[in-house]
Amino acid sequence: MTSIRNALTSLADMFAYPLRHSHYLELVNPLWTEHVLKARVVGVQDETADTRTLTLRPGRGWRSHRAGQFVRLGVPIDGQRHTRTYSISSAPAREDGCITVTVKTVDGGRVSQHLARRVVVGEYLPLGEPQGEFVLPESMPVHPLFITGGSGITPVMSMLRSYVLEYDVIPDTVHMHYAPHVQDVIFGAELGELQASQKHYQLHKYYTRASAQEASVHFSAQQLERACPDWREREVWACGPAAMLDAVEAHWEQAGLARQLHTERFHAMVAPLPGAGVKAGRVWFAASGVQAQSDGATVLLRVAEDAGLNPPHGCRMGICHGCNTTLVSGCVRDSRTGSLISEAGDTVQVCVCTAVGDVELAL
Ligand code: FES
Repeated sequence: MTSIRNALTSLADMFAYPLRHSHYLELVNPLWTEHVLKARVVGVQDETADTRTLTLRPGRGWRSHRAGQFVRLGVPIDGQRHTRTYSISSAPAREDGCITVTVKTVDGGRVSQHLARRVVVGEYLPLGEPQGEFVLPESMPVHPLFITGGSGITPVMSMLRSYVLEYDVIPDTVHMHYAPHVQDVIFGAELGELQASQKHYQLHKYYTRASAQEASVHFSAQQLERACPDWREREVWACGPAAMLDAVEAHWEQAGLARQLHTERFHAMVAPLPGAGVKAGRVWFAASGVQAQSDGATVLLRVAEDAGLNPPHGCRMGICHGCNTTLVSGCVRDSRTGSLISEAGDTVQVCVCTAVGDVELAL
């Protein structure tokens, strides 16, 4: 059967040359294409004043995600295609085959503003494959501890929904969640329902701007001891602002329990800039024929975008390799580690690398 289908596909491609038959299918229904994966927006729902959930129906070729993974979403704005990475907030086993992503607007963030304010039902958005290691183990863990802040709730929401959908019950779980105010808690009503209906699910909410009390801290040892006295025995998933994750990582590191901790960051960790080692210079984007000035501290993706280019990219934090290009000459610094890349032909992730003096990239 497969070989007959393959033969028919090859025949159709022959007639469609120089395109593929999939390009013509795209005109009928963008979800039928094989050369590019797309999703149709089938629902939009406001979660808080600055957060919106998009329900997406992925097209042919989508493979189901694992709870906690993220996807790259293409966002066409004014003829330019931008790409951003969002955690999937829905459970993998949804009956309707749809997924949800929950987008929080970022101040000055053109793409997040567009997704959370202007995208409407019926639009088609390019979609990537699910990715990421911030996932639950295949078998149900006995004692999870979730620590989330702000929109860091989204991958964990996928995990909680996945428990309910697959097992009907959430196992013995402690969840510490941080938000500025009560009205900023994303999925607040659903979390409340879980708290009321799932007897092993303990939710502790901290409003970081609602009082001058201890709660204003994003994670502390005291909060942890109070909410989860048996934290040493639990496997931990933490996602949220960098300050919260730094504090959580330091705490588990100090306890010698770092192996029990899984974290997901929204931004790459950066090494301190080497002071005298920062060198401004010119950046030559060879394939684009564009030259730009770099201050030695701005990542090359931003340098390219500020020069009017629109290089392919995804996560903007060094995970997906969607921004990889090749070093032609010069030297760049990986801002996460401080290490230098100066061998012509080496791969450069422009979203996390800065120029050190004059640089030429294949881009
Ligand atoms: S955009 Fe994902 S690694 Fe650079």
